[in-house]
Amino acid sequence: MVVVRGTHRVPGDKSITHRALMLATLAPGRSTIRGALPSLDARSTAGVLRALGAGISALRSGKVVQVMGRQELVAPRSTLQCGNSGTTARLMLGLLAAQPFQARLTGDASLRRRPMRRVTEPLVHMGAAVQAGRHDGLPLTIRGGPLQPLDWTLPVASAQIKSALLLAGAVAGVPVTLHEPAASRDHTERLLRHFGYPVRVLPGLIAMEPGGRITPFDMPVPGDPSSAAFLLAAAILADGGEIRIAGVGCNPSRLGYLAVLGRMGAPVGVEGVREPFGEPIGELVVRAGPLRAVTVPAAEVPGLIDEVPILACLAARAHGTSRFHGLAELRVKESDRLALVAENLRAIGVTAEVQGDDLVVEGTDALLQGRVRTAGDHRMAMAFMVLGHRSPGRIVVDDPGCAAVSYPGFPAALAALAAGVA
Ligand code: S3P
Repeated sequence: MVVVRGTHRVPGDKSITHRALMLATLAPGRSTIRGALPSLDARSTAGVLRALGAGISALRSGKVVQVMGRQELVAPRSTLQCGNSGTTARLMLGLLAAQPFQARLTGDASLRRRPMRRVTEPLVHMGAAVQAGRHDGLPLTIRGGPLQPLDWTLPVASAQIKSALLLAGAVAGVPVTLHEPAASRDHTERLLRHFGYPVRVLPGLIAMEPGGRITPFDMPVPGDPSSAAFLLAAAILADGGEIRIAGVGCNPSRLGYLAVLGRMGAPVGVEGVREPFGEPIGELVVRAGPLRAVTVPAAEVPGLIDEVPILACLAARAHGTSRFHGLAELRVKESDRLALVAENLRAIGVTAEVQGDDLVVEGTDALLQGRVRTAGDHRMAMAFMVLGHRSPGRIVVDDPGCAAVSYPGFPAALAALAAGVA
């Protein structure tokens, strides 16, 4: 019997931590970031920004991060290492597009396979010069300079592309108008607004005008709702009890998965929401209970893009057949998440299939066991660690350590759910 209880916390939001570090670097003077995520991905961003002249204190759990930003960035002396982090690579391309020097970026084997042309093409349109190899990915070299205004239609709903282009426009002082097929997370728009940039958002359209000024700040980073999703899922799968996760980001563009959990029969309460730095923060409350199958239409996917692996694992324990539609973007995440999640579900005894861009998962209450291949993908590792939590030793995740890309201390957090310690 696993009964969960207590109030828990999750580490800082990954998306907001990247953006806070970048904006603090652009703000001449000393900024402080409280609750920043001390994960490998966030450290990649800090490392790149240090190479461009920022002073950034060590990213450690429970420590406030101090950033010494500067008026002008300096040309890096060596290749910028983005590690496993797509957000680092893509947002930095936006920042670098407006800088009067050349920089070369690379990443680990997973990141080098991920598409970058979707960001570099509009940046070249704005006036940046990009030298890339024959394949669409890192390493590549960018030389920035004065930029032109941009009016661009995004090929996919992606906060990383959108943010890169908005940051390029903000730094270069030119208007940027973007047409997006569906709304994606809006942290960059909120932050730019905070610094006085007029950002207009209409369905399918984002229009930013120059005119803001990035000045030193003191920012609290909320807990990451995508990390909270793993703890909520583990609690739902328990035999009984209820947990509360405090201090979590409740930005609606990140909480698409709550609607899906509700339809599966696991409603999540959102309580005590406040908005300290333009970002809603609140508490999420959920109880253990049975799940029913769900259909997730393609239109919902941009709002829960990082939660598909854990929702698919929950679907494996739901009554009936679940269908997730329109998952093409999952193919270009830290792994081919669409193929790999199906492969791993099958490896532990679940009937799961990829049909075109859709994923079909048949729920079961049979004993699950087998070996899970993460391909170094943090969300793959955590999703299957949650599924394996109930029956230790039966589901073996090949690289549990890769969870530290976004959630340092995840195994301990999972174990603490039953103990009820925060
Ligand atoms: C992120 C955007 C998403 C998400 C990633 C973080 C961001 O990627 O999957 O984990 O911080 O902007 P896409 O923009 O490629 O969908």
